[in-house]
Amino acid sequence: MTNLKITAAAGPIGAEITGADVSRPLDTEIFQAIDGAIDDYAVIVIRDQNLTAPQLADFSRRFGRPQVNVRQTANNDGTPEVGWISNVTKDGKQVGSHDAGRYWHSDLCYLERPSKLTVLNALEVPTKDGVTYGVTQFAGTVPAYDALTDEMKHRLEGVQGANSYRTMWNRKAIEFGVRPYLNEAELAKYPEDAIHPVVRIHPKTGRKCLFVCNGYTNALIGLTKEESEEILEFLFDHITGSDFKYEHQWRVGDVLIWDNCAVQHKAKFDYALPLRRLMQRCTIEGDKPY
Ligand code: SIN
Repeated sequence: MTNLKITAAAGPIGAEITGADVSRPLDTEIFQAIDGAIDDYAVIVIRDQNLTAPQLADFSRRFGRPQVNVRQTANNDGTPEVGWISNVTKDGKQVGSHDAGRYWHSDLCYLERPSKLTVLNALEVPTKDGVTYGVTQFAGTVPAYDALTDEMKHRLEGVQGANSYRTMWNRKAIEFGVRPYLNEAELAKYPEDAIHPVVRIHPKTGRKCLFVCNGYTNALIGLTKEESEEILEFLFDHITGSDFKYEHQWRVGDVLIWDNCAVQHKAKFDYALPLRRLMQRCTIEGDKPY
């Protein structure tokens, strides 16, 4: 018997789960209910979890192989599969990444095997006068694909995109100034661009998803620069400007899990110190997109 309760959000994306304690090993029935809810709703929040980094990694491991993020300075020292996302500075050093989630993106799509899931646990949430800041927004890539015209679907058949960590790095360095601008030799330490289909098949649901994002996709292979830019700009607007959205208002203790094939996400930077935001994150390796 379990007290697990799953409540769908108003739109097609998002659900809330209460009555689970993911700090301890989960029995199969509860794990399967959570896993099934991710397939059904693409983004789920499990409320009221107070996790250490090893507990977050252990829970995440139930879904697959945790990834160690390439940005090692943002990772937890003792549990490197867990990374910090924050606006907090300690002893003059940034705690984790201060500019993660600035652009719409799908996690680690710059790798040959991008993240299938992300598990993000809120330890501190910026709130003032009863208002919560720093929400995370999600947009559904399946309904976005379905809403394309037949002509555009046809145009995208077999097209691949380049997803670039290196381009993202210096773009963020210039736009936000909280990471250093890197020269070619320094950038070369990070992954080369990953080439993925623009339309990929979701490995569990079999649905077609749009897999380009403003944060990382910088070119469509084999197209002229003008054509590539025109199509990418259209797709970025189409995905993120759609009605297929969910906006997560954080509470301390939330464990938010999202499916990086079925949604893209972006964080809102509408707060500043002394309002603090501290999150710990674990991503799970997915398949090579096809
Ligand atoms: C991320 O992009 O993975 C972080 C999102 C957030 O901080 O809300």
